[in-house]
Amino acid sequence: MPNPNQGSVAIYPGSFDPITYGHLDLIERGSRLFNRLIVAILSNDSKEPLFSVAERREMLAQSVKAYPNVEVDSFNGLLVDYASQRGATALLRGIRAISDYEYELQMALMNRRLRPDIETVFLMAGEAYSFVSSRLVKQVIGLGGNISGLVPPLVEARLRDRLLGDKQERR
Ligand code: PNS
Repeated sequence: MPNPNQGSVAIYPGSFDPITYGHLDLIERGSRLFNRLIVAILSNDSKEPLFSVAERREMLAQSVKAYPNVEVDSFNGLLVDYASQRGATALLRGIRAISDYEYELQMALMNRRLRPDIETVFLMAGEAYSFVSSRLVKQVIGLGGNISGLVPPLVEARLRDRLLGDKQERR
């Protein structure tokens, strides 16, 4: 039977500041749904990021090495314009809780209005990671809490350096 998704390209956009196992779970599942998955970091974000785009790209690239059909990129401007330039027909987003729904619905409807030919596809976050966010991970490690098992080891090391660098040296 022909694969209806043959040739399909999807964009998984986000801030990824930094990547968590919640993101990786979505990437793994997305890589099975689409022929090609492009993980795209928004570079002109109004939020003050902890890591530069280059640093986030590098952490993502290291973390997705096991998935040959996953690519890491960054973009500026409208997501749907970038998706169209990349030949994508779908945007992939994860939903953790009802609180995510409103924001995601607004974005999906706006993106549909801008480009009706690009569909947003939602996956429910893996239950093991439904409470994990980049924001909370940064907060917890910054306050000395344990985040192992929530982010890849290389990301944990980077977070430690960035947020606890001075404190670690003084110990
Ligand atoms: O991980 P995040 O921070 O929730 O991701 C948000 C992101 C990058 C998907 C969103 O901010 C975005 O798509 N920005 C690009 C600008 C855009 O296209 N805006 C109009 C559509 S709502």
